[in-house]
Amino acid sequence: MKRSAGFATRAIHHAYNPQDHDGALTPPLHLTSTFTFETAEAGGEMFAGERQGHIYSRISNPTCDLLEQRIAVLEGAEAGLALSSGMGAITAVLWTLLSPGDEVIVDKTLYGCTFAFMRHGLAKWGVTITHVDMTDPENLRAAVSEKTRVVYFETPANPNMRLVDIAASAEIAHAAGATVVVDNTYATPYLTRPIEHGADIVLHSATKYLGGHGDVVAGLVAGTAEQIAEIRLVGMKDMTGAVMAPFNAMLILRGIKTLNLRMDRHCATARIVAAYLESHPAVGAVYFPGLDSFEQRAIAERQMDQPGAMIAFEAKGGLAGGIAFMNRLEMIQRAVSLGDAETLIQHPASMTHSTYTPEERAEHGISDGLIRLSVGLEDAEDIIADLEQALAPAALQAAE
Ligand SMILES: Cc1ncc(COP(=O)(O)O)c(C=O)c1O
Repeated sequence: MKRSAGFATRAIHHAYNPQDHDGALTPPLHLTSTFTFETAEAGGEMFAGERQGHIYSRISNPTCDLLEQRIAVLEGAEAGLALSSGMGAITAVLWTLLSPGDEVIVDKTLYGCTFAFMRHGLAKWGVTITHVDMTDPENLRAAVSEKTRVVYFETPANPNMRLVDIAASAEIAHAAGATVVVDNTYATPYLTRPIEHGADIVLHSATKYLGGHGDVVAGLVAGTAEQIAEIRLVGMKDMTGAVMAPFNAMLILRGIKTLNLRMDRHCATARIVAAYLESHPAVGAVYFPGLDSFEQRAIAERQMDQPGAMIAFEAKGGLAGGIAFMNRLEMIQRAVSLGDAETLIQHPASMTHSTYTPEERAEHGISDGLIRLSVGLEDAEDIIADLEQALAPAALQAAE
């Protein structure tokens, strides 16, 4: 493409020319575990890194390669890497960057399995995990030391929607010589491009908005060519083997083609749903970056093009009230995961964040009554009608 193409055009066309593939409009699916060498010498040269080419699909595969180029261009990175899951991406990145004796500073709120990997996985191998409330960059400044190798956070964070100022945190981390890793699953590169704000490595659970249809588990990473080559050969090839299947790469490539359309619709509907929830007498606090009441609105405006479509809220009536409300829902599905066409609801304390002890949840800002809603692509009126009928008994009680 001659001129610098827009987001949607890059998501659809980048790095693929049908004329190089027998005119096939859709990129071919390379279902092959291994690749043949023209000569033994050529194979040896590839292993020595002296010749380009695919060797074995645990290292690279042309279908995954195209997806890697797409995520890189959308994130504004030099290179990308496709992995078997979001957790595969997280573990491959951190196993590559960290050694015993290093410290990783992480925000207080993390997705449950990321928290478990840090606390029960990395910590076992002599890595110090320091949780810092990164909603104030000064807390990070006070915590960094020469032992800090990685600064890691989600923004918005799963499940409570806390935001971290990427630029301010990156400046502090870089001054201490640390690498900044951002989990951009909630925002997607359509809303936030952390590298533009100073992050070094961005990763995703591509299972969510990037796939977008609830039919695949996948992970993606973007960073410099040098970082990605190291994560590919150390974290992915040797330490985790968490390689993405080519078929899954095809599904994510397909999902990404409509990412901007889906995100526009997800965000527009989420604004309506969040305003509805905030005005409802049976609903307590609502956490959504598009609301005027959202405490970190200024950060949202600085680093998010739109507020996203994840909403966290407290049901009045506590845990029991929240569970009863969830059980009355008819169209909205009770399920973990997020970013799908279907609106999904779940209870972090007993589901995605049950990897925290109750004491840890209290310390990390995940209340027992918190409910997480992933606003889907259905008609806004239908989502609200379902919430309304499920909240009605609680509203009556609140009025009594
Ligand atoms: C923010 C975030 N990061 C990472 C993951 C892990 O991704 P996966 O389930 O694809 O392994 C999840 C999963 O829910 C998530 O919500």
